[in-house]
Amino acid sequence: MANENSYGFATWTSFIEESQIRALLKYNVKYYFAGGKPGIIPTDIFADILAELSVKYKENPKMALDDLNYGPTGGQPWFLKTLAKRLSKVRKIPINCETQWDCVSITNGSQQALYALLDTMIDPGDVIITPSPAYLGFLVPAVKLGARVIVVPTDTDGIIPEFVERAIHLSKIKFGKNPDMLYVVPDSDNPKGTTLPWDRRQTLFDICENHNILLLEDAAYAEIQFKKNPKPIKTLDKDNSRVAYLGTSSKEAAVLRVGYSVLPDNVKEQVLKDKGYLDLCTTTLVQRILDIYYTYHIDNAMKRGIPLYKERYEAMAKALDASFPAGTRTDPTGGFFIWWQSDNPDFNSSKFMEEVAIPNELLYVPGGPFYPITGHKISEDGNDLEPSTPEGNTMRLGFSYAPPDVISEGIERLGKLLTKEIG
Ligand SMILES: Cc1ncc(COP(=O)(O)O)c(C=O)c1O
Repeated sequence: MANENSYGFATWTSFIEESQIRALLKYNVKYYFAGGKPGIIPTDIFADILAELSVKYKENPKMALDDLNYGPTGGQPWFLKTLAKRLSKVRKIPINCETQWDCVSITNGSQQALYALLDTMIDPGDVIITPSPAYLGFLVPAVKLGARVIVVPTDTDGIIPEFVERAIHLSKIKFGKNPDMLYVVPDSDNPKGTTLPWDRRQTLFDICENHNILLLEDAAYAEIQFKKNPKPIKTLDKDNSRVAYLGTSSKEAAVLRVGYSVLPDNVKEQVLKDKGYLDLCTTTLVQRILDIYYTYHIDNAMKRGIPLYKERYEAMAKALDASFPAGTRTDPTGGFFIWWQSDNPDFNSSKFMEEVAIPNELLYVPGGPFYPITGHKISEDGNDLEPSTPEGNTMRLGFSYAPPDVISEGIERLGKLLTKEIG
């Protein structure tokens, strides 16, 4: 039998670890504050849709044959039209849903779009700018594909545009390269939960226009908002040339692995070429289910679901403020996450989770993986780049999955354990 070490694995397998989110999905604990799992899925609506489809398929075997078959790589036209309608009417994305619906394409989750965009845009050594901290599902593939990641400071309003300007300048001086991409999650960011105000959205768009950088707007949480947010950055992109806009059904519908995007034409062509080799196409049956959901049910489902998420957020914030030791937390107005940082710089959130939290039935995501394993940050004086370092005294607490009473109980328990550990 072959020795398992004898295979010539690709280099990346030796320095990229399993996704922290995937690693944590396997734990079954009483107090689950880890991955961004939606806890409020309108299962009754999906049950009705499935029942409706079961009748339709028996009556119309040709439709069933098509829906259980391969389809176009970028998605079925009838589904893209439905998505285009929602994107233009509700999100105000500047596309004509009657004539420009083919600007929309779908992927297997927005995770696939993130990966395919990086795969399409990045050669080893190319430069990407992200907030610090940033969604690890974007950061890790970026590093895997050989990107130089420059992380930019954030505050309670998200990424700070003047540091983006600085990072571009330093990229040119230090690497001789204009960055290829700026990645942001403007509405209730993952992991910090912050929302970019309108003036920052505008400034970031202008910066990307001035420096010819593709702005990747990941709108994963845009529909899960407790108050009205500023419009998407994509609304400024009148000729669909600067912003790659990504949405997902995972948070606002169900985890059926469908992401949707509006990409500049030439970017879309390359991303779909990549997708063609990754999975050929997204399952048509799932598009059918979601087509019915987006056409008839989403508004009601959101009306019911958003107040329930808000309740969960409030339960978490209240319990955290009452029981956690000295530190700071963010104050999200939507999405799934609160970010907490201990005042004690020596607190090791990752070690604490393994040694204390998990044995006590508690799970969160330690902050470390939201910083690139190898990356660059702007030096204190602003004139240089230096290796970026993770802030290990942080954690991402997800309020989306557990009900409010479990959140209150679990966060109080976590607070007591943290207080015992770090005072
Ligand atoms: C910011 C962000 N982008 C993208 C994704 C990927 O979502 P999906 O692949 O389920 O569409 C997630 C999932 O948690 C996310 O938080």
